[in-house]
Amino acid sequence: MKIIMIAGARPNFMKIAPIARAFDAVSAIQYQIVHTGQHYDQNMSDVFFTELGIRQPDYHLGAGGGSHAQQTGKIMTAFETICEKETPDLVLVVGDVNSTLACSIVAKKMHIQVAHVEAGLRSFDRDMPEEINRMVTDAISDLFFVTEEQGMVNLEKEGKSPDSVHFVGHVMIDNLYYQLEKLHQMPKESFASHAYKSEHREYAIITLHRPSNVDNPETLTHIFQSLETISNSLPLVFPIHPRTRSNMERFGITPPANMTLTEPLSYMEFLNLWKDAKMVLTDSGGLQEETTALGVPCLTIRENTERPITVEQGTNELVGLSREKLFSCVDSIMKGQWKTGQKPRFWDGHAAERIAQILMKHQGRI
Ligand code: UD1
Repeated sequence: MKIIMIAGARPNFMKIAPIARAFDAVSAIQYQIVHTGQHYDQNMSDVFFTELGIRQPDYHLGAGGGSHAQQTGKIMTAFETICEKETPDLVLVVGDVNSTLACSIVAKKMHIQVAHVEAGLRSFDRDMPEEINRMVTDAISDLFFVTEEQGMVNLEKEGKSPDSVHFVGHVMIDNLYYQLEKLHQMPKESFASHAYKSEHREYAIITLHRPSNVDNPETLTHIFQSLETISNSLPLVFPIHPRTRSNMERFGITPPANMTLTEPLSYMEFLNLWKDAKMVLTDSGGLQEETTALGVPCLTIRENTERPITVEQGTNELVGLSREKLFSCVDSIMKGQWKTGQKPRFWDGHAAERIAQILMKHQGRI
């Protein structure tokens, strides 16, 4: 079976790494990696290939930034040529970024089967570009690999046939456990954050990049004012996404004194910081899940989540833009009164192997 696997933006790389490892162990699966180039900076892309042990992509489409239509269009045009040349049996897409959407549409229109990893998640907020990407990708995919029960419910409601939907757990959590094991073997001093951690017994990690939080000057200012208040009692570390950095500069926002801003960090450097943080404040999808897997308190600066299991069973809570809720949650965490959470079903480090097995069974039907 010949599979093309798509990766384009930072959160995709953690998801393809364990799948590539699982495919390497199955001789009947031959795969190629296409990097769309949606993320292109060294510290948003290349560093992950190196650190997560992903082999170099077979094709790099060099799509780069631009508006949604420009980016999606560039990826589609370039990927069509690859599909014509390679004629894969199946295209495997992960997550919900523009690369996911673009490549699934191209494949489907060329009568190539599409498998979507992390299918069925819904925030029911169509102002999120990712929600549109998730809905369209799931509307046309042939195989659905699901991370949590609610994804199964959503896909059933959307009329998917039960034999196309598979609850496998989460490949990103496979990657987390794999890398954590490696991290434990590494000397603590090899991390740039070692000195910071030695000096600061307690700190919080911040990540912010959603357009709804960072593209509007009033909203971003409001969030920074809240962070300033928190920083009076807890040091903050903020590895800053390029979108957020450029908006802070445009809006004239300066970080509070007790906040350390860094460039985007590599996976291991970031893991070394957040795994021991007092709490994580974020609008990322993946970090809501990773903090649940390791039991780190997480406050999500969003009104909704497409990953409800992290709130129901994990250590995550939605605080939106409410200062009252944010401060009261921070207070509970500081007092050690936070929920400890439990690991969701199948978040056991073996999701990618399940995917490889299911694809082998599916092969006869391609
Ligand atoms: C994208 C995904 C989002 C994901 C996020 C993770 C979509 C619609 N959004 O958002 O779901 O959570 O990645 O980071 O696919 N930029 C750089 N260097 C880079 C990449 C981006 O400077 O390597 C800058 C560019 O100016 C670009 C901007 O950041 O215009 C935003 O990048 P883009 O890929 O459009 O969206 P993200 O906000 O990163």
